[in-house]
Amino acid sequence: MTETAIPVITIDGPGGSGKGTIAGLLAARLGWNLLDSGALYRLLAFAAQTHGIDLTNEESLVALAAHLDVQFVAGEDAKEQSIVLEGEDVTRAIRGEAIGAHASVVASLPAVRDALLQRQRVFRDPPGLVADGRDMGTVVFPDAELKIFLTASAEERADRRHKQLLKKGETASLASLLDEINARDARDMNRSVAPLKPADDAVLIDSTSMTIEQVLDAVQQEALKRGLLG
Ligand code: DC
Repeated sequence: MTETAIPVITIDGPGGSGKGTIAGLLAARLGWNLLDSGALYRLLAFAAQTHGIDLTNEESLVALAAHLDVQFVAGEDAKEQSIVLEGEDVTRAIRGEAIGAHASVVASLPAVRDALLQRQRVFRDPPGLVADGRDMGTVVFPDAELKIFLTASAEERADRRHKQLLKKGETASLASLLDEINARDARDMNRSVAPLKPADDAVLIDSTSMTIEQVLDAVQQEALKRGLLG
């Protein structure tokens, strides 16, 4: 099978829109591979911190991105993959708010995005790929069979994040989460290269007042229409 004959479904959108959850569930349902592209930017930000590299040092960040020693280890299903960086399991360590904000900073550097491009495309393996990120449908897989742009209001996303943190026993102020979400959205949408925006041929889904099951159902309907779901 040539690489471009391998089907891809892209799910792009802002942080907290539920795209990671939906991508994981969809990949498991289809038995396809999963690319969590945000994890690559988070890994780079994490590795930069470990190696004492400044987030403005583009040259060193590019070198680090090119040699990032990372493995995505599949669990029982695509949803449960663990991420190993330089031999250390960092699955949880890269999920924090601070690493997310740093990831968004390194992701605004065009040469860093270039260095990570090929690394993302190699995830396109049979029988198919579900790719989650900001520019999956616009830049990384422009020929994807189905492109979803999943969004939700900033208030709803802050509320979801707040509940998640409380569940984990962590404290956070709703107002500061909303500020962080707005700042990250602004950075991701206004950067010069591969900004967060729907592809022209993307299907827009606003999950503000939808459950995960309803969103998954809507995405599956679209996959069905394109003959991607048996
Ligand atoms: O989806 P996430 O929160 O794990 O992503 C972290 C940051 O990485 C996000 O704020 C912007 C950046 N990112 C990106 O620029 N392009 C992608 N395809 C995925 C993430």
